Amino acid sequence: MTTKDSGNWRVGVLFSQTGVTSAIEQSQLNATLLAIDEINAAGGVLNRLVEPVIYDPASDEKKFRALAERLFVTDRIRLLMGCYMSSARKAVLPVVESHRGLLFYPTLYEGFEYSRRCIYSGAAPNQNSLQLARYLLSNFGNRFLLVGSNYIYPYESNRLMTDFVMQGRGEVLDELYVPLQANEADFDKVIRRIKKTSPDVIFSTVVGSSTATFYKAYRAAGFDPARMPIASLTTSEAEVAGMSREAAEGHITAAPFFETLMTPAARLFVQSYKNKYGPEAPVPAAAEAAYFQTHLAMRALARCGSDDPERVVAEVRDSEFDAPQGRIKIDPENNHAYLWSRIARLDQNAKFQVVWNPGVRIKPDPYCVVQSLDDWSADDILSVSR
Ligand code: ACM
Repeated sequence: MTTKDSGNWRVGVLFSQTGVTSAIEQSQLNATLLAIDEINAAGGVLNRLVEPVIYDPASDEKKFRALAERLFVTDRIRLLMGCYMSSARKAVLPVVESHRGLLFYPTLYEGFEYSRRCIYSGAAPNQNSLQLARYLLSNFGNRFLLVGSNYIYPYESNRLMTDFVMQGRGEVLDELYVPLQANEADFDKVIRRIKKTSPDVIFSTVVGSSTATFYKAYRAAGFDPARMPIASLTTSEAEVAGMSREAAEGHITAAPFFETLMTPAARLFVQSYKNKYGPEAPVPAAAEAAYFQTHLAMRALARCGSDDPERVVAEVRDSEFDAPQGRIKIDPENNHAYLWSRIARLDQNAKFQVVWNPGVRIKPDPYCVVQSLDDWSADDILSVSR
């Protein structure tokens, strides 16, 4: 059976509904299904409905790989939406490549990767880490302590952050890793190290449910986020939903989208999401990327009249879409997205309030070839205005 034989366009969807990163991945699944609902409500693609084929890989890279194989071999899908952790993407991509499929990956990641069979719709480091480093160095100081979960994204992301801190004539005091399912005892060690080294800022690459454990322990230790915040690209509305307001307040992140953005496109997306999933359902940037990439992919499919990955990827490259964050575009040079860079701080109600918003769309530079911390013109050179 081919995709079209069922009468519907069948698309593989792999986001974890269980396990350590299920909160954020559930939001990505929700947003993918919201986009599919919208497309189907408008008549589908070329008069065929879009049908998601969904499995739960349980935050486990081996299951991601096995389920991707099943989707391509048994379910005969050709396009796949999925993955949060970079370890999952690294497990799935060889399967996608061997079956000549196409993966749409809606998550910020460490960069330094290109597959012609992957569209990267989350932020590359030159669209979030670089801006965050500049902001932290200007506002808090140059003595950083790095804390991460024990896998590839934190290692690589910390390597880049260390480069930026060094360029800022700063110092990385230590780099600590905790297990993916870290508990209070794991963070006790981190808290002791923070007390001992007294940094200006903590850069956290802790992911998933351990994030709330860390922020709670930080608050309980009596640290003042106004003076020494935790800055993290992986602490979004989804992880904050698992913390108290007291634990969240004052911490910082950078992302292309926040649930609190007040543009009409952002309000419409957030309202549609909450109408479907409830008023308390968090709407992080990773969900927004999952949403716009689904629309982008299905528009490409409509233009080429086929789900042949070669043809879809050719259509997606260089295409633009009015996403909730602003107009985005897929860079034909590297399959990553031009995105809007923003920095926000958590307020007393645990809501992100934007503190830096340059109003430019930033060209993806996944290998950080052009950007350096000292090159303050880089955003202007690489951005296009609204
Ligand atoms: C990530 O692992 N790319 C957050």
